[in-house]
Amino acid sequence: LKRKYLDLIAGAADEASIEEVRLAALGKKGELSLKMRELGQMSPEERQVAGPALNALKDEITSALAAKKAALGDAALNERLRAEWLDVTLPGRGRRAGTIHPISQVSEEVAAIFADMGFSVAEGPRIDTDWYNFDALNIPSHHPARAEMDTFYMHRDANDPRPPHVLRTHTSPVQIRSMEAHGAPIRIICPGGVYRADYDQTHTPMFHQVEGLAIDRDISMANLKWCLEEFVKAFFEVDNVELRFRASHFPFTEPSAEVDIRCSWEGGTLKVGTGDDWLEILGSGMVHPKVLQAGGIDPNEWQGFAFGMGIDRIAMLKYGIPDLRAFFDSDLRWLRHYGFAS
Ligand code: PHE
Repeated sequence: LKRKYLDLIAGAADEASIEEVRLAALGKKGELSLKMRELGQMSPEERQVAGPALNALKDEITSALAAKKAALGDAALNERLRAEWLDVTLPGRGRRAGTIHPISQVSEEVAAIFADMGFSVAEGPRIDTDWYNFDALNIPSHHPARAEMDTFYMHRDANDPRPPHVLRTHTSPVQIRSMEAHGAPIRIICPGGVYRADYDQTHTPMFHQVEGLAIDRDISMANLKWCLEEFVKAFFEVDNVELRFRASHFPFTEPSAEVDIRCSWEGGTLKVGTGDDWLEILGSGMVHPKVLQAGGIDPNEWQGFAFGMGIDRIAMLKYGIPDLRAFFDSDLRWLRHYGFAS
């Protein structure tokens, strides 16, 4: 019996045949199991001899089965190792890391600088109603400012009941949305894309602005001036700046000012802080009482300043980029040249 099973085990070629042998010997109706059951009918003397012998045989077959199983496993592993080899000396396939687009990078820089002055980031939709984009900002239907903005209107059927929508022409509608959402006091900036039908070296139909809005009980132009000076120093990494507030006009601010920074051009690169040139960077002013009212804020109790700055423009200045359109071409050679991609 022992010879028979040890030979069968040795000859088994795979796990299934080992299992067959196991069942034949040790299964419920296995040969060895049946023999062990016969022990019950034996005389005590016979049993004393046959019992230990059968148990020893059972142990031997069990361990032979286990050993054969392990050997088969090793063989299978060796076969896999032979078939699935890998040449670790082959050169790797290069992978270029993605990078943040310069406009996003500059938006994040701007947000970080204003965060240090207590401004949080607000957002609004790029498709907005003409009420948010114009009326609420004190630009009524036939105001010339609407024509100047080169607005993209959403096409609608004549009998469409929804209010007219536009691609926002500036980030100023977010002023109204912030007032409605939080009430006074407010201290937010809103960076984001805006749209105007215009295209040349310094204009693209989609560009980016960052809106600033601070509303409180005693806000003045002096606060605006300080915030902008701090911003320009931090953004252009200079210790001294000089800002020039030029009287201007926006329907949504009164008084209004456009702000220039003192600068010079040295061999094509901009130097901020010294020189005889002035460079316009933004529009600003004290929030018009009608605008506060449109946002549900009492102009007798609260005042505020607001500004709107071109992100693409300050990015061009900081990085010495001559053509705005290049920002939106996604040309990797260009991005690498300016250090915006690896
Ligand atoms: N919205 C104005 C523009 O796009 C900029 C601006 C914002 C001016 C806030 C004053 C106050 O030109």
